Amino acid sequence: ADRSEIEAAGPSEAAKKVKIGIYFATWWALNVVFNIYNKKVLNAYPYPWLTSTLSLACGSLMMLISWATGIAEAPKTDLEFWKTLLPVAVAHTIGHVAATVSMSKVAVSFTHIIKSGEPAFSVLVSRFLLGETFPVPVYLSLIPIIGGCALAAVTELNFNMTGFMGAMISNLAFVFRNIFSKKGMKGNSVSGMNYYACLSILSLALLTPFAIAVEGPQMWAAGWQIALSQIGPQFIWWVVAQSVFYHLYNQVSYMSLDEISPLTFSIGNTMKRISVIVSSIIIFHTPVQPVNALGAAIAVLGTFLYSQAKQ
Ligand code: 3PG
Repeated sequence: ADRSEIEAAGPSEAAKKVKIGIYFATWWALNVVFNIYNKKVLNAYPYPWLTSTLSLACGSLMMLISWATGIAEAPKTDLEFWKTLLPVAVAHTIGHVAATVSMSKVAVSFTHIIKSGEPAFSVLVSRFLLGETFPVPVYLSLIPIIGGCALAAVTELNFNMTGFMGAMISNLAFVFRNIFSKKGMKGNSVSGMNYYACLSILSLALLTPFAIAVEGPQMWAAGWQIALSQIGPQFIWWVVAQSVFYHLYNQVSYMSLDEISPLTFSIGNTMKRISVIVSSIIIFHTPVQPVNALGAAIAVLGTFLYSQAKQ
């Protein structure tokens, strides 16, 4: 259902707020679990191209089974749909693998601090590539976002260039993904859940050959033996958990995108990062200096100012 239908159906404002609140809480919780297992896997098994492929494969499989068994209704799609989806999938694939490569090199919290700068990328892309202009306060809000991210980056104890660039590339790719998918979902009969399912399947097809070329089965097999011998059989469950939770958090986020504006979505996404940053610092005992935390706080605050300025 699109927004106007939901409004026409007329659930009360309060009921709608509760529903969106539940979506958000579920999205963040699933994302925290994904981030923890993803990092546990990457620490023992540093093959981000494979783990990001497995996440997409697991989601694709879950959805194909759901469609085949009737748990979810399969979408009716035509060639035009898949053509429009292709640029979204290219951006999703690049953004996903870049973020995973980043997290294999640096602390999860660092990747997400840099990723909290996504609104700045959104404004710059809209301004310079799409020629959109914004009110002055929007541009001003970029100062704390960019400044805060820069401060957090230069004071990061475990700074690594690949880790930094991966998060930056992910930001840029996801801005394009959001622009393209907003267009693709508009006026489309495919629900958020099925839209994300199709996105996973197409992204999986795109990513697989690159994952084989960059890492490949030989490396994967050798690394797998090492990880299994170090961690024990539960390593397999970590891989399963990171893959299943990756799909679930993205599915819920696309389901909520059906019902909220892109702006509300990006605010929700930033708040999600706060929960990931805080929980991963606690769980992985990530060392943080006060000035480093200050940079992160300024960047996140900047994102809130940005959302206020955009409203
Ligand atoms: C990924 O692996 O795709 C990243 O963790 C995505 O990060 P995000 O969904 O939090 O932007």
